[in-house]
Amino acid sequence: MKQKKFDKLKASELKTLKIEAENARKKAYAPYSGFKVGAALLTSNKKIFTGCNVENASYGGTICAERTAILKAVSEGASTPFQAFHVVSSSPTPWPPCGMCLQVMSEFCIPSTVVMISGQKGEEKMFHLSDLLPESFSPQYLLKS
Ligand code: THU
Repeated sequence: MKQKKFDKLKASELKTLKIEAENARKKAYAPYSGFKVGAALLTSNKKIFTGCNVENASYGGTICAERTAILKAVSEGASTPFQAFHVVSSSPTPWPPCGMCLQVMSEFCIPSTVVMISGQKGEEKMFHLSDLLPESFSPQYLLKS
């Protein structure tokens, strides 16, 4: 795997993030879709927060793993911008974060935040957040003139 663009993060940090995401995935509450997703994020001062998807009988109440991790981190006073995410699903191939999660990520990340995704068959992909969401709606647009 190419790691040139992400050389500020240590391979060991990325490996730990993956392990934590997989551990979080095991706690997923996904009785409706059957897809279990786990996420782990690395804060700007190197703390890790994790989350899993939590589904609801009223399907729209479902919260994705990425947003669970972000809300846990922000509500605990985590330092931002987040440096990296790892998202792992129970699907054989890696799943990219959904649009809503990308938007929420963009609020607390920077364009170069690393987003790694993996599935159950060993494939792993690595992006910058700006690859996945090049033109996010950001607080700058809310400035009043
Ligand atoms: N899911 C996530 O946790 N993260 C994503 O980015 C995509 C989808 C969850 C939501 C739902 O519980 C299940 O995967 C199927 O959509």
